[in-house]
Amino acid sequence: MSDTLIVYYSRTGKTRMVAEKLADMLDADIEEIREVKGRSGRMGWFVGVKDSLLDKPAELTSEHTVEPRKLVIIGMPVWASAPPPAIRAFLGRYDLAGKTVCAFCTHDGGGGKGLFAKTGELVPGGLAATLSLKKPTPDDPALDEQLRQWAEEIKSACE
Ligand SMILES: Cc1cc2nc3c(=O)[nH]c(=O)nc-3n(C[C@H](O)[C@H](O)[C@H](O)COP(=O)(O)O)c2cc1C
Repeated sequence: MSDTLIVYYSRTGKTRMVAEKLADMLDADIEEIREVKGRSGRMGWFVGVKDSLLDKPAELTSEHTVEPRKLVIIGMPVWASAPPPAIRAFLGRYDLAGKTVCAFCTHDGGGGKGLFAKTGELVPGGLAATLSLKKPTPDDPALDEQLRQWAEEIKSACE
C-alpha cells in the first residue's frame, strides 16, 4: 500500500483523467468517491448546481482507505464555485487530522478559489497545496508539465 492516496469525484471523466495521471507520477493509490444519487444528463447538471448551492448532503456508496495514509490528495470538479456534495460527504466521514492534504479541481473557466476556500475549511490544518485546471485534455503536454510541477510542490510540502 502506498503512503499516498488520491481520492476523486468525477461526473464526466475530466477529474478522473487528471487523478490517474497524477497517481502514475506519484506512485499513489487511487480511489473513486461514488454516491447514491445519479447525476447524468441535463437534469443531473441542474440538480447538481442546486445541491451544491444548498449544501445538500450526499450519501456515499464508496469506502476509502484513508487511515494508513500520510498524504491524501483530493480531486474534484468545481460545482457552483464549490466542492460537489460527494466531496463534502467524504470530508465529513473521514478524519484527515495529522495528514498532509492537497486538492486539485477541474473547471470550465470559473477557477477554484471559492472551492479551495470552502474545502480548506473542512480539512483539519487546511490544504497544503492546490491546483486548478481549466478544461484539461488528456493529450495536452502542458497538462503533463503542470502536473509534474505540482507533484514536486506536493513532495516539498511533505518534507
Ligand atoms: C453541477 C455543476 C456545476 C458546475 N459549476 C461550475 C462552476 O461554477 N464553474 C466552472 O468553471 N465550471 C463549473 N462546472 C463545470 C465542471 O466543473 C467542469 O466541466 C469539470 O471539469 C467537470 O469535471 P468532471 O468531468 O470530472 O466531472 C459545473 C459542472 C456541473 C456538473
